[in-house]
Amino acid sequence: MQYEQQIEALLAQMTLAEKIGQMRQLHGTGENQKTLVREGNLGSVLNVIDAEAHEIQRIAVEESRLGIPLLIGRDVIHGFRTIFPIPLGQAASFNPDLVREAARVAAREASGAGINWTFAPMIDIARDPRWGRIAESCGEDAYLASLMGVAMVEGFQGDDLTAPEAIAACAKHYVGYGASENGRDYNTAWIPEVLLRDVYLAPFHAAAEAGAATFMSAFNDLNGVPTSGNEFTLRQILKGEWAYDGMVVSDWASIVEMIAHGYAADARDAALKGVQAGVDMEMASTSYAEYLAELVESSTLSLDLIDDAVRRVLRIKFRLGLFNQPYANAAAAESLLAAEHLDLARQIAKESCVLLSNKQTLPLSQNQTKVAIVGPLANHAAYQLGCWVFDGKPEDSQTPLQAIRALLGDAQVVFAQGLAEARSTDHSLFDEAVAAAQAADVVLAFLGEDAGLSGEAHSRAFIDLPGAQLALIDALVATGKPVVAVVMAGRSLVLGELQDKVQAMLYAWHPGTMAGPAIADLLFGLDNPSGRLPISFPRTVGQVPVYYNRKNTGRPPSEDAPSIPTGTPLDPSGFTSSYLDVDHRPLFAFGYGLSYTTFEYSNLRLSSPKIGFDETLSISATITNTGKYAGSEVVQLYIRDLVGSMTRPIKELKGFQRIALEPGQSQEVTFELRSADLSFHNNAMQKIVEPGEFHVWVAPSSIGGLQATFELTR
Ligand code: BGC
Repeated sequence: MQYEQQIEALLAQMTLAEKIGQMRQLHGTGENQKTLVREGNLGSVLNVIDAEAHEIQRIAVEESRLGIPLLIGRDVIHGFRTIFPIPLGQAASFNPDLVREAARVAAREASGAGINWTFAPMIDIARDPRWGRIAESCGEDAYLASLMGVAMVEGFQGDDLTAPEAIAACAKHYVGYGASENGRDYNTAWIPEVLLRDVYLAPFHAAAEAGAATFMSAFNDLNGVPTSGNEFTLRQILKGEWAYDGMVVSDWASIVEMIAHGYAADARDAALKGVQAGVDMEMASTSYAEYLAELVESSTLSLDLIDDAVRRVLRIKFRLGLFNQPYANAAAAESLLAAEHLDLARQIAKESCVLLSNKQTLPLSQNQTKVAIVGPLANHAAYQLGCWVFDGKPEDSQTPLQAIRALLGDAQVVFAQGLAEARSTDHSLFDEAVAAAQAADVVLAFLGEDAGLSGEAHSRAFIDLPGAQLALIDALVATGKPVVAVVMAGRSLVLGELQDKVQAMLYAWHPGTMAGPAIADLLFGLDNPSGRLPISFPRTVGQVPVYYNRKNTGRPPSEDAPSIPTGTPLDPSGFTSSYLDVDHRPLFAFGYGLSYTTFEYSNLRLSSPKIGFDETLSISATITNTGKYAGSEVVQLYIRDLVGSMTRPIKELKGFQRIALEPGQSQEVTFELRSADLSFHNNAMQKIVEPGEFHVWVAPSSIGGLQATFELTR
């Protein structure tokens, strides 16, 4: 490639100080940063936009000796100005095409502000809803997270990274951050290597293959070695086995945090370990700046490693075309909140909402005489945006209250919040909410978490509805009016009690700018819910981690064990792997979600009962809309490898298709499986496929569906 020669030419001209400068990233654009840039001692800044971004880029290009442009990074996580659902919500859409488009829009809007690099997608597998960053993840499943992560990479970067609207993606946090013990952020992760390779690394491998320009190392210690000093994951796997030629940035100060981890003696040692492991750029902290020169000069650190890191940084700058066009994409600045961006935000918010329960109450007719709108998230322009929103503005939000008023007319809506805040325990506004309910035909209660209850360093040990929300529901239900709950949250919550009390539950995650219109469309039947859960919902936090693709154990619990009332010490199922006081199954399983219509699965057919290693198995089923409404179904393909040289999960998602059907309409859906889809790692870390019997399901969720058996033969 042409730019490889340019990189070598530049490298040949660079002083050691200039090389080390390329390996540094600082926050902001103060005088210190400007001086460093002018002197060629800073390669990247983060968290600057617009005029500030332009000015510091101008200094780099026009005033530094070599004119090397800056990477200007920012957390554009689920939208720039137009805010889309949190990534966990986007994953619930099971619609990678829409997710790709949302990332494209985010990139376009961000490119207008001078940003050329986003710290997304976050593709940490997350199986613990206590962890606040589950909101930023694509959920518990490696297959789904891989598809969603790749869609985001493709969206941010497009086909051509030099295009004005493209920005570099960053696959983060590499790796195992989502397995932080007990959901406490930044905590230790122990992940056996087979699990690491089959599950936690899989989305990162997919992102690398999809051309993700950059990777970010993580905060966590993985199997005894902090991920920002982990030669095994960075140098051996990422840059070795996967031959990744992009660059790796540390997480915020994660190089020097290796001192607190007890892995580096001091900042000098941390810098040495960071570079040796393969972290090419240090974010925020300054150990590289302070110690790398001396480490090289004393021959403690090889110059080859510095050169390798600098090549990788420069490569991204060339790939982005920054040497030709370093500045903001002026045309895109006009596109903030463009009508088509808002339409997309509305569509993806709709497709991410999951209908969890419905006692024949939804959809509501638009001819209600009166609707009571209550709850702390009914009209909260900021909360609905969720965590990690730097550039989204609450004043752009369309809230459920506004949207329902617009749809039904002011006269049909009576609003009483009931609780001042999501976490409020004060009942003093209950009377007003009860009066509103009494004056209405139906109550729409907007519940959930404020945006501050998820995200980085925002983990919870209790994952119930916060504050006095359930008490508010009790007061509303006591009026005898039907109550529909819409829950916005950054994680799965424990919802059993709420489910028992209300007529329907719609789970909206934090849906973003267009939460209101999206939810109104669904509640009033202008559209039909079609989201599916990307994480299992526990009955109680005591079940965590609970995920669908677990192992069977030697004493599997009966799948049709009756629900056990919490707190009742029984032993209903013998000496099996279950609980005395709660059903072992999640309340809502991975892949689950209802619709206003019903879908029937029939006629499961395999192209053959046996396939060889080089053959492809086709699996087809007919899906029929047997209800009254048009709707979309997410048809899911699962497999189980019955006997292996390693035990295999009881189910693994291998495919899904989103199809739209009119009432009465049928469609045949066909999936293809190849032997590579059946592979896994053995204890020798070989990726293997073994002959034998497999179950296959075409199913509406990770539970149920049509099942058949096939054999893989040599
Ligand atoms: C987070 C990263 C983020 C970075 C820059 C860190 O605290 O862990 O995900 O990209 O800050 O804002």
